[in-house]
Amino acid sequence: MIATVARRSLLASRTTAVRAATLPVARAAAASTWASVKAGPPDPILGVTEAFKADKDPRKINLGVGAYRDENGKPYVLPSVREAEQRVIASKSDKEYGPITGLADFTKNAAKLAYGADSKPIAENRVAITQSISGTGALRIGGAFLARHYPYSKTIYLPTPSWGNHTPTFKDSGLEVKQYRYYNKDTVGLDFNGLIADIKAAPNKSIILLHACAHNPTGVDPTQEQWKHISQVVKEKEHFPFFDMAYQGFASGDTDRDAFAVRHFVSEGHEIALSQSFAKNMGLYGERVGAFSLVTADADERARVDSQLKIIVRPMYSNPPIHGARIAGTILADAQLYQQWLAEVKDMADRINGMRAQLKSLLVDENGSKLNWDHITNQIGMFAFLGISPEQVAKLVNEHHVYLTKDGRISVAGITPHNIKHLAKSLHAVTSA
Ligand code: LMR
Repeated sequence: MIATVARRSLLASRTTAVRAATLPVARAAAASTWASVKAGPPDPILGVTEAFKADKDPRKINLGVGAYRDENGKPYVLPSVREAEQRVIASKSDKEYGPITGLADFTKNAAKLAYGADSKPIAENRVAITQSISGTGALRIGGAFLARHYPYSKTIYLPTPSWGNHTPTFKDSGLEVKQYRYYNKDTVGLDFNGLIADIKAAPNKSIILLHACAHNPTGVDPTQEQWKHISQVVKEKEHFPFFDMAYQGFASGDTDRDAFAVRHFVSEGHEIALSQSFAKNMGLYGERVGAFSLVTADADERARVDSQLKIIVRPMYSNPPIHGARIAGTILADAQLYQQWLAEVKDMADRINGMRAQLKSLLVDENGSKLNWDHITNQIGMFAFLGISPEQVAKLVNEHHVYLTKDGRISVAGITPHNIKHLAKSLHAVTSA
């Protein structure tokens, strides 16, 4: 009896030992499904905001993300947007699903804003358009459409440098990404000859991504004469131009002027692709309002392209959010609100330009910088590309609590009368050491 009990207890302890040996392994295996997932780097732009938020220094300035701030450094909701939103709320609209390609009242007027009220392709009903999850979503839909349907190439050429999210967006869309020269470090301006040479050297019928205005990150745009030349070369090479227009109104304060390149290419007969964003010019950042469009040959082709856009969108996110598009659509459709909005866009562009001039003057006149800072006022749009080294950027962040992207880009829209002196002093300190 005693022997039996002893054997049982021996068996039980062996079983426990076996369980002890196997269970943790089984548990460890279950817990290690993602063991091989490597930590990714922070986003080069939005990661800057995360680092800024963690900094407790009261002098800190966030010039990383391109988001407009008012004179007090606060996010700005445009009065025209407030008014349109009140009207949307007062209309007590339902919250049903929108169409796959979004609200037609919005997309119709978004197209007019970009292509012009007197646009021939719009009058001929040959612009295929879909609402998108802001500009990024438009690029993503456009990339997917080209990867699937553009018969001549699966490669898109981006300017060097380009917006940090372009490469991953187009790669995820299924395109290969290559570069063409754009920015000349020595002149802190456009490398026009390099750009033309590279576009000429690309195989015929390549896809060329062009920033329509307010180039991000450099703030360096071709002149109208240069755009005409680019259009000619793109035509000779039979390339396919894909415009990213995320800043219409922000470059010059005039939405028509900023659409020059897009409208010129269209008037020259290019069948362009276009990504539009209403994040910046309407301040609808988090509402995610944008549009992707394609100029086609005729109404029949437009209808076929539209059907394929639906087929791309439906499995991606089914249909777009309606609230922001209702706001934007209300502004674009109402003559008085539209004029008010245009004036507000101009005010934002003017405030940015005022900050550019003041920053340059503080650097040179107040801090005595001997460097040439003309590029700060020559560049346009939301950003200034300072032309400083990664080491100088690191010093600005670590020693002066001025946050910017690693390439030396600052969002001028984040400069205010309250932080500009600290910025100028810090920039002078890291560039004169
Ligand atoms: C930027 O470049 O800062 C903006 O376009 C915001 C973003 O999403 O990167």
